[in-house]
Amino acid sequence: MLLLLLLVLLGLGEAQRPLHRVPLRRQLSPWKKPWALPQLSKFWKSQNLDMKQFTKSCVRNQISKEPLTNSFNMQYYGTVSIGSPLQNFSVLFDTGSSDFWVTSVYCISPACEKHTKFFSSRSNTYSKKGSNFFIEYGSGSLSGITGVDRVSVGGLTVVDQEFGESVTEPGQHFVYAAFDGILGLGYPSLSVTGATPVFDNMIVHNMVAQPMFSVYMSSDIENGTGSELIFGGYDCSHFSGSLNWIPVTKQGFWQIALDGVQVGDTMMFCSKGCQAIVDTGTSRIIGPLNKIERLHRAIGATLVNGIYFVECVNLTVMPNVTFIISGVPYFFFYTLSPTAYVLQALGDGMRLCSSGFEGLHFLTEPSWILGDVFLRQFYSVFDRGNNRVGLAPAVP
Ligand SMILES: *[C@@H]1O[C@H](CO)[C@@H](O)[C@H](O)[C@H]1NC(C)=O
Ligand SMILES: *[C@@H]1O[C@H](CO)[C@@H](O)[C@H](O)[C@H]1NC(C)=O
Ligand SMILES: *[C@@H]1O[C@H](CO)[C@@H](O)[C@H](O)[C@H]1NC(C)=O
Ligand SMILES: *[C@@H]1O[C@H](CO)[C@@H](O)[C@H](O)[C@H]1NC(C)=O
Repeated sequence: MLLLLLLVLLGLGEAQRPLHRVPLRRQLSPWKKPWALPQLSKFWKSQNLDMKQFTKSCVRNQISKEPLTNSFNMQYYGTVSIGSPLQNFSVLFDTGSSDFWVTSVYCISPACEKHTKFFSSRSNTYSKKGSNFFIEYGSGSLSGITGVDRVSVGGLTVVDQEFGESVTEPGQHFVYAAFDGILGLGYPSLSVTGATPVFDNMIVHNMVAQPMFSVYMSSDIENGTGSELIFGGYDCSHFSGSLNWIPVTKQGFWQIALDGVQVGDTMMFCSKGCQAIVDTGTSRIIGPLNKIERLHRAIGATLVNGIYFVECVNLTVMPNVTFIISGVPYFFFYTLSPTAYVLQALGDGMRLCSSGFEGLHFLTEPSWILGDVFLRQFYSVFDRGNNRVGLAPAVP
């Protein structure tokens, strides 16, 4: 997840030691932009746009209505335990920020009501730190205080982890989040609370075989089963070929240089080079507003209630979109086919296809965010030891 604040201002890992795996689940709820699918499908029908109506035979593919309502915007999250005895939380693992926070028992915002709360008084190992913090993401903000406790994730326990306990989560943003907090995996310089990030503590305390973690986001339609985050290395069974290593250009986000964006065979954007971040906390691929508008025209997307839709029947004729990134040893073409960059959902007995691209008004570089739409196609390794990102085609 992109930190708004900054925008405005600005083989197998190792055989000897085990890899620490955190299974990830996929959230089927609109977090960044809540909207109602039933309304949309009505609108869609009234516009006489593509309506692939499902017959009875497809009904078994339908999950309950509630999750379907939300399946355009997806996040992957996993479990983290805090304190003694353990209190468990679902958290979003976010390479686009560096703070760790969960919802506090003292939070009274509506957004907190839906989430598991941390009871500091119930933990024998908790100590109060008491610094106030305020974090503003591209999609929601929160404020709270910090504390220190044991934090366990993927079978690893950081004994003295400073983390945030959110006391206010204003607005609607977090109401729809299926997670109770966010665990930032960016560089320490991005930390707003000033706390040492969880992964830095793992490195410092020599808990990981190698100072790297990797992310596999399964494309499994229903709930992303099989997705995982690995601390300490990577798992070759999740990708084909070999990893292409891309240097981090600026340590904060996982920022890399992009050498061009092609639509079909045409180089359309970033031909002179630009900066991108690799962000597990962003659902789509985000680029500059005017460029994404042009991209949407090129793929034939139509704006409806603030969301770009495409006709599902056109998936077969839409162009590929390719990100050109020079790494070691290769200059690689990261190609996304229409089925990769279009988000599909069933709702009201029809299939809706929305664009996996989103425009944003960036004030400075980086100007592209390679989110989950990109990362589902490419297994990613975040190597703090060598300050590089490894990418290879993910095995579905
Ligand atoms: C919390 O998570 C740990 C580790 O995954 C698990 O062993 C434990 O049973 C969970 N506790 C609760 C109360 O869910
Ligand atoms: C994924 O969805 C299937 C079918 O709804 C369900 O049986 C399974 O338990 C889910 N898996 C996870 C990890 O949530
Ligand atoms: C879908 O494809 C057809 C055939 O290529 C084309 O005529 C139509 O304009 C496309 N629709 C959109 C919204 O691009
Ligand atoms: C799109 O990319 C895929 C590989 O990702 C390739 O098989 C296909 O031929 C490409 N389509 C076009 C129209 O170039």
